Amino acid sequence: MGKKILIGIVVVFIVMQFIQPAKNTSNEIPRTDFIVMNTPPSEVATILKTSCYDCHSNNTNYPWYGSVAPVSYILANHVNDGKKHLDFSRWGTYNQRQKEHILEEIREEVEERHMPLTSYINMHEEAAMTNDEIKTIIDWIDTSLSMTKLYNEPVQ
Ligand code: HEC
Repeated sequence: MGKKILIGIVVVFIVMQFIQPAKNTSNEIPRTDFIVMNTPPSEVATILKTSCYDCHSNNTNYPWYGSVAPVSYILANHVNDGKKHLDFSRWGTYNQRQKEHILEEIREEVEERHMPLTSYINMHEEAAMTNDEIKTIIDWIDTSLSMTKLYNEPVQ
């Protein structure tokens, strides 16, 4: 590789570090949060927080390399896209039909091992779900879907 090209790449890399996406870190747990509203058993809460909340809530725990572009761009993209589909922090703002639909989708994504994303598991071993953990989530969702407390009116 020519020396000029190499210097060019280094300059682009350095400039990128100054153009950073906003971090998805809120210090508050809102009252519309899924776990706050539904008080699931602690195993369920722990699984969701460990395997899902980084991309589907207002509170992402960033790894150290999460501040290094272009990794920071990729993470921001995953979080924005993830929250568009499902935002546990805004659970209370979903209406009854949306809640039911999302619970069914969570069940399906987990059962088929589509979630958490493989690229995420590769970097976060602890987020990989065991068969027991998958069963815990599925059983809890099935029970919840037959109860009324998840179907409260949206919180404004
Ligand atoms: C690394 C980030 C990341 C993690 C961790 C993650 N997701 Fe996702 N999730 C996404 C993205 C990005 C999308 C939207 C694109 C897609 O469907 O692949 C998504 C979509 C979804 C959807 C909507 C699917 C659809 O068809 O609309 C559900 C439901 C979901 N995730 C549930 C979960 C659950 C449950 C967990 C934890 C077990 C989880 N996700 C963990 C990033 C993530």
